[in-house]
Amino acid sequence: MAARILRCIGMVALIIQLTACERDISFANDVAPILQLHCAECHSPDGEGKLTSGFDVSSYATVMQGTQLGPVIVSGSRISSTLYLLIDHKAAPEIQMPPHHLKGLPAGRGEPLTEEQIETIGLWIDQGARDN
Ligand code: HEC
Repeated sequence: MAARILRCIGMVALIIQLTACERDISFANDVAPILQLHCAECHSPDGEGKLTSGFDVSSYATVMQGTQLGPVIVSGSRISSTLYLLIDHKAAPEIQMPPHHLKGLPAGRGEPLTEEQIETIGLWIDQGARDN
């Protein structure tokens, strides 16, 4: 019994430590540069991604507005956020973003984001997708 309680306390301490060392992500400094570099070519006012889906990465407001069908970010939950699923290879190859799969739209034109970039965006969403 005592051992079990100790183990529980250990786990709780570990979780607190993990949470504490998690970086505080900034939209302006961390997220926007990734979107500008890898998404803006298509998701700017005249880009094909914006013209087809309505999604525009020009500003925090347009990112949060989402597509013509509605938001693609659910503050606080990356796994409920379409945007995250599209960049983290969770979606069908044809709709992964940036399009990089052979079956991508349009075929193979973007480079996939790195694991670190995907994690940065995921953490930003989990931390509330703030305009910070
Ligand atoms: C080479 C051009 C291109 C790049 C680069 C690109 N996209 Fe797209 N994106 C598109 C096109 C075209 C569509 C519309 C596809 C469709 O409706 O099937 C789209 C659609 C989307 C959608 C809407 C999907 C839906 O289900 O409605 C989101 C969200 C999105 N892109 C996010 C991103 C993000 C985030 C990046 C950068 C990491 C990115 N895109 C990079 C071309 C691009």
